[in-house]
Amino acid sequence: MAEVVIVENPAAAGELVAAEIERLVRERPDAVLGLATGSTPLPVYEALRRRVGALELGRVRGFALDEYVGLDPAHPESYRSVITREVVEPLGLDPRLVRVPDGGAATIRHAGDDYEAAIAEAGGVDLQILGIGTDGHIGFNEPGSSFASRTRVKTLTEQTRSDNARFFASIDDVPRHCITQGLGTILEARHLVLLAFGEQKAQAIAAAVEGPLSAMLPGSAIQLHPHTTVVVDEAAASLLAQADYYRYTFAHKPDWQGL
Ligand code: GLP
Repeated sequence: MAEVVIVENPAAAGELVAAEIERLVRERPDAVLGLATGSTPLPVYEALRRRVGALELGRVRGFALDEYVGLDPAHPESYRSVITREVVEPLGLDPRLVRVPDGGAATIRHAGDDYEAAIAEAGGVDLQILGIGTDGHIGFNEPGSSFASRTRVKTLTEQTRSDNARFFASIDDVPRHCITQGLGTILEARHLVLLAFGEQKAQAIAAAVEGPLSAMLPGSAIQLHPHTTVVVDEAAASLLAQADYYRYTFAHKPDWQGL
């Protein structure tokens, strides 16, 4: 089962995950990180930023999880722009080493295959950061996504479009399609780190961690992975039946084990 760590607040989650990334990068300076967008991973990127200078990230390679289709990459809310603004620039990554799926019309037919090939060529993802949508999606794998799915074009649900409308002038501006790493792609990363904060994520987290495996709850795919860490605050953990066990386990964890 996934290791569940219940932390006091998002900043503590950011510190915990950044420390794990630091450990990885010190061991392997050209580590491959799976990068997520959305508000959830921001505390991780902020905690990493505080390490810049002491920690050299210039050789780290990165693959974003997903991108909107049909949005100009220069649009401030394209995931290409978000990754550049929130990850590449502040952390001093080399932009040539960070890929985002290409949602442009010219290449969309083969963009999924191209992305899969690039991940394979990099030797796979070492640590994949994940958030979760209120409907249980990871990446942009909406309910119904196959656990074997690869990087491909998906149609966004209305729930996801309305959740993401806050980043756009109006809901009409939110794209209807996206290109996302598949659940099968995500499951090949060597370590999954799923973060969630706030009460609005409690249901999706309980279903992903403790519910039955179901394509209707794409986040439940994490149960198929031998090394998943779920980092949540108290509010996002509030519907977990085994919360006390997770607290006990983490409190008594041997020091040598890491995340
Ligand atoms: C978005 C992204 C996901 C993200 C999720 C939650 O639509 N495609 O990668 O994890 O929805 O977003 P947030 O972290 O802002 O709640």
